[in-house]
Amino acid sequence: MSVIGQPLDRTDGILKVTGQARYSADNTDAKLAHAVLITSTVAKGRIASIDTNRAPSMPGVLLVMTYQNAMRLPNNGVPDAQPPAVRKLTLLQTNEVRYSNEPVAVVIADTLEHAQGAARYVDIRYEGAMPNADYTRARATAYQPDKMMGRAITTQRGDVDAGLRQGPTRLDAVYTTPYEHHNPMEPHATVARWDGPNLTLYDATQGVSGAKSAVAKFFGIPDNNVRVICPFVGGGFGCKGSVWSHVVLAAMASKQTGRPVKLVLDRPQMFGMIGNRPFTEQRIKISARDDGTMTGMRHDVISTTSTFEDWTESSAIVTRMLYAVPNQATTHKLVKLDIGTPTFMRAPGETSGCFALETAMDEMAYQLRMDPLAFRIKNHAAMEPQEKKPWSEKSLLQCYQRGADKFGWANRSMQPRSMRDGNTLIGWGMATATYPANRSEASAVARILPDGTAMVASGTQDLGTGTYTVMTQVAADALGFPLDYVRFALGDSSLPKAPVSGGSQSAASVSPAVRAACTQARDQLISMALADKGSPLFGVPGDDVRVSNGWVVSVSNPDKRDPAAAIIARNGGRAIETFATTKPGAEKQQFAFHSFGAVFVEVHVDADLGIIRVPRIVGVYDVGTLLNEKTAHSQLMGGIVWGVGSALFEKTELDARYGRYTNANLAEYHVPVNADIGMLDISFIGEADPHINPDGARGIGEIGITGVAGAIGNAVYHATGVRVRDLPVTLDKVLA
Ligand code: MOS
Repeated sequence: MSVIGQPLDRTDGILKVTGQARYSADNTDAKLAHAVLITSTVAKGRIASIDTNRAPSMPGVLLVMTYQNAMRLPNNGVPDAQPPAVRKLTLLQTNEVRYSNEPVAVVIADTLEHAQGAARYVDIRYEGAMPNADYTRARATAYQPDKMMGRAITTQRGDVDAGLRQGPTRLDAVYTTPYEHHNPMEPHATVARWDGPNLTLYDATQGVSGAKSAVAKFFGIPDNNVRVICPFVGGGFGCKGSVWSHVVLAAMASKQTGRPVKLVLDRPQMFGMIGNRPFTEQRIKISARDDGTMTGMRHDVISTTSTFEDWTESSAIVTRMLYAVPNQATTHKLVKLDIGTPTFMRAPGETSGCFALETAMDEMAYQLRMDPLAFRIKNHAAMEPQEKKPWSEKSLLQCYQRGADKFGWANRSMQPRSMRDGNTLIGWGMATATYPANRSEASAVARILPDGTAMVASGTQDLGTGTYTVMTQVAADALGFPLDYVRFALGDSSLPKAPVSGGSQSAASVSPAVRAACTQARDQLISMALADKGSPLFGVPGDDVRVSNGWVVSVSNPDKRDPAAAIIARNGGRAIETFATTKPGAEKQQFAFHSFGAVFVEVHVDADLGIIRVPRIVGVYDVGTLLNEKTAHSQLMGGIVWGVGSALFEKTELDARYGRYTNANLAEYHVPVNADIGMLDISFIGEADPHINPDGARGIGEIGITGVAGAIGNAVYHATGVRVRDLPVTLDKVLA
């Protein structure tokens, strides 16, 4: 039986639960110095004066780094590189302030407490200006950006105006989604150490290779002078996908003090300088014929960005591919505000876009007096409707069917407020989930060691997702070794290069490289045995052997077998080492690669108080082959829980007068707790994607959040008759 898909415990689970896993901030060094970041208290203007007279004389203080004494970086700290690969950072090269909570100084001391104490005595005065942070007022300045991460900013197919006139049933609605901030349990953390010209960073990052080359650019040094190490990440979700200011500031502080320096963001510092999900305003127009066939659709998105970087929330990309509407236009625009630059946040674009689209679909279904699921099935896209390509594999109809059966959707009454139990209004809603199935070039190395175990490695990352575990499974399967003979290493830029663990691409990209390297190593082991007169396999035909349980075995005569260690011992005793690089081929252009799912939700709404509970969610997903059923289930569970958060709780409040986030802490930034989550029934179609990679496995990091907020909002409408078009769906909106 293949080990692929088995619900194995995490190979790093024991290390984690016993506290032995060393995260970035757990690194200690005898000479380690501690840095504390001071951030701006105004959102716009400049630093008028910094009084650092007192802090340097305080106990243990090594340096107070400000724009006045910070080392000068090439090109004023703005490398000639394009965002989002290299972001526009704040590196104390000028006295300008561009957003609230922007780094303005770094205090470095022998202990964290000394640095924190001294930081309170750095007196910074600002010449503040009125910030532009009011979206409603700035809205008129919306402009179309030049690019959007390799995607078209606008699309057009058919004749959208004609299409919108064709269908007699029409919707024209505006949806908004709020500012949100990722808050992984592990905050951003960096330990920087220089050894002569070489910089080592222990950095909490989703991409060791990307971090290495980005940091090198800020210092104007060769990439290979930087090494980034990150064996464990306490959650990433997109905010750790870029190198942000604190990483480079830690390296500058280390250079200037001559000491290794640790810099950890405190929780309030997670709101501003490391990206967030921007505010979006999304206008959707749909027309449909009486039978439910959609004839035209528009999706126009405006989202917020900073004054110094165009970062676009690609909310309309999901609209382009999800339904078979023939006439369609989508656009994206930006409004610049005096806030930090937004970034990738779990399913960036799809999360906000799916909410708007799937709410609009529900609204249309009600206008058409059609079951919302039947309306979606009616407009199912048999091929990718924008590019007109076949799907690599699509089982969305099966997701709908199985989800509806499990949920009992057939028993739903269409009418809002029609399913009541005493004072509880019961609502059933559903939505489609989707996320692209991305894959990039990746490399891996495999070694069969003289003791007959294997050491396999790739410079990928494990954000808590299970990369260590699933890559161990792929390696063991390809080698024909028992799982506990295989050790998998990752999280080091000196290992073979792998892509950023973003865009749900690590499993799909790295597994083929691991499989290829391990298959080569296995084949070398086999060849060695077949050519070895001392082996029981000498002379056995090549097509009659396999490796099983760490032994090379004759298939026709299993008594002929030879363990790896013995084969290597008789052949010079040196490890077998292989290296492989894999990347997508022509199929990438031939097919549209997407994952799908169907989400069904029950909500209970208190008829008097509007309090919303979510007792159960059924999610069925089409994500290709599962590499590990348990880690996959956990990924989807986490995504759905976050979906509940985005539906009902999450919102960063921006005080537009000061350009300041007012709930920049985990007490007032609300996320679901255990009591907020009811039964989650998660299942998978399990159909392999024949084109994505040899295992047929697509990524699963992001699809789980998509669709959930739409399904919950739709269920709330069904329960109450109140349509909430602005996330989060809170009780005040339901009662209004
Ligand atoms: Mo994901 S938001 O691409 O880390």
